[in-house]
Amino acid sequence: MIVRIPAPALVVLCGPAGSGKSTFAHRLFSDTSIVSSDRCRAMIADDEANIRVSREAFELFHHIIELRLRHRCLAVADSTALRPEARKTLLHIGRECEVPTVAILFDVAEATCLRRDEGRSRRVGRAVIHRQWEAFQRALHRVPTEGFGQVLVLGEDDLRRVHVEIQGASGRRGAAATL
Ligand SMILES: Nc1ncnc2c1ncn2[C@@H]1O[C@H](COP(=O)(O)OP(=O)(O)O)[C@@H](O)[C@H]1O
Ligand SMILES: [Mg+2]
Repeated sequence: MIVRIPAPALVVLCGPAGSGKSTFAHRLFSDTSIVSSDRCRAMIADDEANIRVSREAFELFHHIIELRLRHRCLAVADSTALRPEARKTLLHIGRECEVPTVAILFDVAEATCLRRDEGRSRRVGRAVIHRQWEAFQRALHRVPTEGFGQVLVLGEDDLRRVHVEIQGASGRRGAAATL
């Protein structure tokens, strides 16, 4: 399976914690193209999990994304993007910067997210995963109606096999990368 992504573009990852968003991003896109909300928290307060700085972290997240797009560079938004308002803000930035928008939905079983969460040092826990997974089921229905230029729903097998071709100069991690 080959996914073609133009550059510049805004790629919005959407999925619960543990669905593999950050892993996918790092395997398929260049480090500088990935803008992570967790990383923005850490840049402000040394802790990716510090929700007290969430508001400022998202200001930074949106600001970096906008700057990259204004410089005609690919931006991969690595956050859960589970709330419709969160996606609306990202879509608005993409439209203002006049770039194509691509939503990638991580359609992974709740049990898989849980198992992966249990296997890492910074856990979000069963209750959070359950809530996020339910929000994701709603996102699966809503995202195709929200105005993204391309919506890709990737299941666990797709995520393992997908190749990404970035058509443009920046944000590229090789002509085609495989998970
Ligand atoms: N396709 C995959 N197969 C097996 N393990 C994976 C896969 N994708 C991610 N993981 C593992 O699952 C955990 C969560 O992945 P991560 O990418 O951090 O998820 P997210 O960013 O969606 O919270 C990590 O320990 C990662 O190594
Ligand atoms: Mg992540």
